[in-house]
Amino acid sequence: MAQKTVLITGATRGIGKGIAVAFADAGWIVYGTGRNLSDTAWAAEKKVILKQADVADQPTMAAIMQEIKDKHGRLDCLINNAGVASNTPASGLGDEEISKIIDTNFRAVFTCCQSYYKMQRKSGGGNIINISSVLGLVGTSLASVYSGTKGAVISMTKALAIEWAGSGFRVNAICPGFIDTDMTEMIKKRESLMQKMLDYIPLKRLGTPEDIAAPALMLASEGAAYITGQAIVVDGGLTAM
Ligand SMILES: NC(=O)c1ccc[n+]([C@@H]2O[C@H](COP(=O)([O-])OP(=O)(O)OC[C@H]3O[C@@H](n4cnc5c(N)ncnc54)[C@H](OP(=O)(O)O)[C@@H]3O)[C@@H](O)[C@H]2O)c1
Repeated sequence: MAQKTVLITGATRGIGKGIAVAFADAGWIVYGTGRNLSDTAWAAEKKVILKQADVADQPTMAAIMQEIKDKHGRLDCLINNAGVASNTPASGLGDEEISKIIDTNFRAVFTCCQSYYKMQRKSGGGNIINISSVLGLVGTSLASVYSGTKGAVISMTKALAIEWAGSGFRVNAICPGFIDTDMTEMIKKRESLMQKMLDYIPLKRLGTPEDIAAPALMLASEGAAYITGQAIVVDGGLTAM
């Protein structure tokens, strides 16, 4: 059987890297993107092909998708993972930071979905997994615009799942809780904040990139053929309370 192919945005580190390694280990041909490709020797070992690209650069992202399709004849799955966080009080957010968060976390997710759809619609459809966040479902301090973009990704996922279902597409989201990556460095560095966080998480640990890779693999599998328009929460029980 021909190998399946996946493109993961923001795969140079963190959750995206975890997803890339898991798909490679499961026998997929894996492509990833990121702006900074230094410190990615792991990718060659896992035969993950990394492309340098800003996810907000729509023509470049569309060209990468087409290049994969031309080379392998297929792009079975797109995982929109690249994202930026912010720890700024709402009153202090300036135009530049607001635009960066919205452009990376929402606008680029939409334009990547759109480019993928346009490429795949005559090939029987495709499979999209958007990485949102529990902060798209619940609020917290210092994350106003970030939360807004992640909530918007969930709503957009549901809307696209409905609009594109008839063309053979499935579109789902994963909502990670607090995961041990560079993005949570600020929390990990402050012992009292970290302890407070763990007190709130029923499973009493941060998640790992592998905890997110497992449901991504499930959603990408044939077994998930009847799952679309869903936001799967993977948070150690944080939002169950
Ligand atoms: N960690 C958490 O607790 C957590 C919780 C909920 C949701 N999430 C979401 O999960 C996703 C991954 O987060 P993470 O924790 O793995 O973050 P991370 O460790 O900071 O990694 C972010 C990844 O996104 C890439 N990226 C950022 N901006 C980009 C851009 N403009 N163009 C291309 N790539 C870009 C980065 O690569 P370069 O720097 O090389 O560009 C990197 O590979 C994000 O969408 C985040 O919002 C994370």
